Amino acid sequence: MKLWTQAHLATLTGESGWGLLEHGALVSEGEHLLWVGALDQLPHELATQIDTQQDLGGALVTPGLIDAHTHLVYGGLRANEFEQRLQGASYEDIAKAGGGIRSTVTATRAASEAQLYDAAAKRLQALLNEGVTTVEIKSGYGLSLDAELACLRVAQRLGTALNVDVRKTYLGAHAVPPEFAGRADAYVDAVCGWMAALQQQGLVDAVDAFCEGIGFTVAQTRRVFETARGLGLPVKLHAEQLSDLGGTQLACEFGALSCDHLEYLSPAGVQALAGSGSVATLLPGAYYFLRETKLPPIQALREAGVPMAIATDHNPGTSPALSLLLMINMACTLFRLTPEEAVRGATINAARALGLKDRGQLQAGQRADFCVWDAAHPNELAYFLGRNPLLLAVRGGQIRTTRM
Ligand code: NIG
Ligand code: FE
Repeated sequence: MKLWTQAHLATLTGESGWGLLEHGALVSEGEHLLWVGALDQLPHELATQIDTQQDLGGALVTPGLIDAHTHLVYGGLRANEFEQRLQGASYEDIAKAGGGIRSTVTATRAASEAQLYDAAAKRLQALLNEGVTTVEIKSGYGLSLDAELACLRVAQRLGTALNVDVRKTYLGAHAVPPEFAGRADAYVDAVCGWMAALQQQGLVDAVDAFCEGIGFTVAQTRRVFETARGLGLPVKLHAEQLSDLGGTQLACEFGALSCDHLEYLSPAGVQALAGSGSVATLLPGAYYFLRETKLPPIQALREAGVPMAIATDHNPGTSPALSLLLMINMACTLFRLTPEEAVRGATINAARALGLKDRGQLQAGQRADFCVWDAAHPNELAYFLGRNPLLLAVRGGQIRTTRM
């Protein structure tokens, strides 16, 4: 049993508030927290069982950060498309001309599994350096059974090697690959057909789709979701990113863990999310990098009581972001979230967006995943641009990263 003392706790317990507690302490045993509170309240029977102790020097302690939406595994980059867009080409124009997701599919298929692993490991390490203890990684750049399998296997290996919890999402319905050009429905059949095989290999925690004019229709997305439901897999959706197709309403009908992007979400979409249990995952990196001007309907989501998560959406086309702290800042500056909402978005609400009930807050029974920061108040996590205040990241009770 380990006692962590002199912690300035931001527990994020309850539905709002930082849950601040100075002179706090945590007791961890194995991978979990046994007790969290003020040190002078530590029960005697626990105090007598402590084997090791660590003084955190009064530093701020928050739950470990959770990045609930990434596409970290891919070949190549798309800096050239960034230049084209700066010169006026739109993301959709580039996609329709065969660039966009499809150009990354070509590069991903051309890469060996070792190359995919090495490139993704470097990107993942950048996220971990800032305190990420759980990360979601989607497939979606392979678009054949073998290539999707390879990408999900890389995601799984990354988790073991880099000591981070990786949640794997199957995004076969990301784009129509060249061999199915003009036959989107046949491709959706294939995506549905591969799902069970990937699941049997333990490579699928959830199923996602890109419901969009340049992606898949609501009817096609429904077929993907029906297959997922038949296999007992939870779903989530890239919804209303570039236009309003009503994918959010469909996702809510299927009890989706989250609906992500949502810039073009309609009042009916907000209504569907309200009380559905689905999380609205906001992606300020993609909004910024696409120079989008239409804001997600934040105030309506807030008034409807929809939990909001914040993620990097790391991908080579719309969000080459490798800093969840920067996304927290941008959620405040661009989307007008409060720092508390943004930090909750990268902890407790991100956990909800992944269907994980055992993390995201500091309290007894939760995983001992937490970060120790060189900060006097948690609002500083939303404040700096490009400073990394992480001192210590603890995952499952074990110190993973230290700068103390
Ligand atoms: O989340 N919108 C779809 N998927 C990604 C972008 C993929 C890409 O452009 O490579 C996203 O923004
Ligand atoms: Fe995405």
